[in-house]
Amino acid sequence: MQIATTIQEVRTQIKEWKKEGASVGFVPTMGYLHEGHGSLISRARAENDKVVVSIFVNPMQFGPGEDLESYPRDLEKDSAYCESLGADLIFHPEPSEMYTEGFCSYVDMSVLTEELCGLSRPVHFRGVCTVVNKLFNIVQPNRAYFGQKDAQQLAVIKRMVEDLNMDLEIIGCPIVREEDGLAKSSRNTYLSAQERQAALVLSQAVALGEKLAADGETDAKKIVGEMIALIEKEPMARIDYVKAVDGLTMQQIDTVKRPMLIALAVYVGKTRLIDNFMLS
Ligand code: PAF
Repeated sequence: MQIATTIQEVRTQIKEWKKEGASVGFVPTMGYLHEGHGSLISRARAENDKVVVSIFVNPMQFGPGEDLESYPRDLEKDSAYCESLGADLIFHPEPSEMYTEGFCSYVDMSVLTEELCGLSRPVHFRGVCTVVNKLFNIVQPNRAYFGQKDAQQLAVIKRMVEDLNMDLEIIGCPIVREEDGLAKSSRNTYLSAQERQAALVLSQAVALGEKLAADGETDAKKIVGEMIALIEKEPMARIDYVKAVDGLTMQQIDTVKRPMLIALAVYVGKTRLIDNFMLS
C-alpha cells in the first residue's frame, strides 16, 4: 500500500491504473479510523479494482471554536488498518497542499444545508462540498463511499454530484454501532467513562423514534417530541437539535412521509454527537 502526500503522486498513480482499465473506489475520511470507516473501505474493496482512502482533517469545514486542533489523529494506526482491509493508496496531504496561497474558490449549496448541522455549523457544508469536490477531481473515482451516520452530508454530496454533473456513483453505507448501540465516531474518544454511558441516550432516542414510526405514528412532531423528552431525562445531555426532515431536500416536515430522516445532534459534556434514522 502506497502513502501519497502530494496531489501529483496521486494523479500519476491514478493515471496508470486508469490506463490499465482499473476501476477506482474512494473513501474520503478525516482519519482516526474505526469500524464505520472500515465498512466503507471493505465495501470499496469488494466493488472496485483499486481502493483509495484519503485522510485529511479539512480545516475549511470547522467553524471558529470547533475541535479542529484537538481532532484525533493517528496516521500509523490508520495506515495499518487501511492496509489490513486491502486499500491500495492513502492520500494524506498537508493543508498547504490542498489550499495553496490565494485559494478563493468554493462549492456552496443552499436548501439541503439550511437545517440540521447546516444550521448549527454555518460554514461546515461549504467546507465539505469544497474539499470533496477537490478530492474527487484529484482521485477521479468511479465510486465514492460515505456513511449514513452523516446523513445530511450524504444527501448533500449526492445532490452536488447530480447538480454539477460529476461522473461517479455515490454509495451510502449503513451506520456501524458499538454493541450497546452508540454510533461509531472518531469523536467518541473525547468521552469520559461517565459521558460514554450518558451518550447511549442518542441511540435510545433513535430506537424509540424508529419504534413509534414502525407502530404507525404519522405525526413526525410527536415522534420528535418523544425523542426529545427521552434525551432530556439524561442530565449530561444537551440537545442541539432533533428534527424530522424530508429525506431528499432536508427541509423540515411535520407529517411522516418517505423518505424521511429524523436526525439528532446532542452535546454530551463538550462533545457533540450525531445519530439518525431514515424511513425510506
Ligand atoms: O465525513 C468526513 O469525515 C468528512 O466530512 C469528509 C467527507 C472526509 C470531508 O472532509
